Amino acid sequence: MDLFEKRAFAMALSLLLVFLGLIVYAAKGLQTDLPTCLPPETARQFRKDVGSVVEIGPNRYQVNVVAFMWGFNMGTVNELRVPRGAVVDFYVTSRDVMHGYHIERTPVNLMAIPGAVTYARHKFDEPGEYMIICHEYCGLGHQNMAGKIIVE
Ligand code: CUA
Repeated sequence: MDLFEKRAFAMALSLLLVFLGLIVYAAKGLQTDLPTCLPPETARQFRKDVGSVVEIGPNRYQVNVVAFMWGFNMGTVNELRVPRGAVVDFYVTSRDVMHGYHIERTPVNLMAIPGAVTYARHKFDEPGEYMIICHEYCGLGHQNMAGKIIVE
């Protein structure tokens, strides 16, 4: 091996070690995990109430979203109504393939993954219509897969 080969080899090896170290740091230091880790009780409740809206307190809602080709079941397909100021917990899954769940003008940006449940919470202070779009290609009807949240 000449010197350049040795250097290239050493650089490649040290990069691999850096990446491995970063993965371990993300998992242990930052507690990063796959989006499957709901507490077992929450997961059980979710399976029972899938495709529904549950009022869990004063102006507090839990929305159990099931995405499918091509729509979102949130109690009503593709439509959700909540009062102004509502704090909404979104639990999202899919019954077929991977979909996306992005609510415009909010930070809610989830994946709908078969067999897993993703989660986000948002408070809707501004009344109006918020479009929900699927931003993960999911087949022929992908571009028409959209819903809306109406904040009254
Ligand atoms: Cu569902 Cu794209």
